[in-house]
Amino acid sequence: MLVPRIIEFTEIGNPSLGFISVAENNVNIPFEIKRAYWAYFTPNYVKRGGHAHKNLEQIVFSVSGKLEIKTECLNGIKNSYNLNKPNFGLYLPRLVWRDITFSHSAVLLCLASELYNSEDYIREYTDFQKMKHDPSIS
Ligand code: TYD
Repeated sequence: MLVPRIIEFTEIGNPSLGFISVAENNVNIPFEIKRAYWAYFTPNYVKRGGHAHKNLEQIVFSVSGKLEIKTECLNGIKNSYNLNKPNFGLYLPRLVWRDITFSHSAVLLCLASELYNSEDYIREYTDFQKMKHDPSIS
């Protein structure tokens, strides 16, 4: 079953200098990065996400501020992740429903395994629910 997981990235540096963290294709992340995007200036009463993807894999970071990411897998298991450190990413495999709340001034950085494709989105929660009963999906 495809489940999200937190990936910790090494912090290179020290408090007096600051830190760098690095993501490298197929080294410390499980896919090749084809796209990066970032979301910002999201009011904290707005929920983003509200979809799953058929094939896309992603790692989501809160490079500034805090993100609350609620997930649901096809097995029905729900989780909530509070991302508030830039060296922790949430790996989202395909077929995971996500709802995202931003703190004031939070910046979400996403590394993605595919180019943007609107056809890859499952935007209706009822369609996602129906996939739970589809034996051809694992
Ligand atoms: P979307 O992924 O729907 O964000 P959310 O579900 O959090 O609201 O993206 C919002 C808009 O941005 C949508 O019109 C598509 C566009 N978009 C792109 O053109 N390219 C991209 O890589 C992404 C992520 C979004």
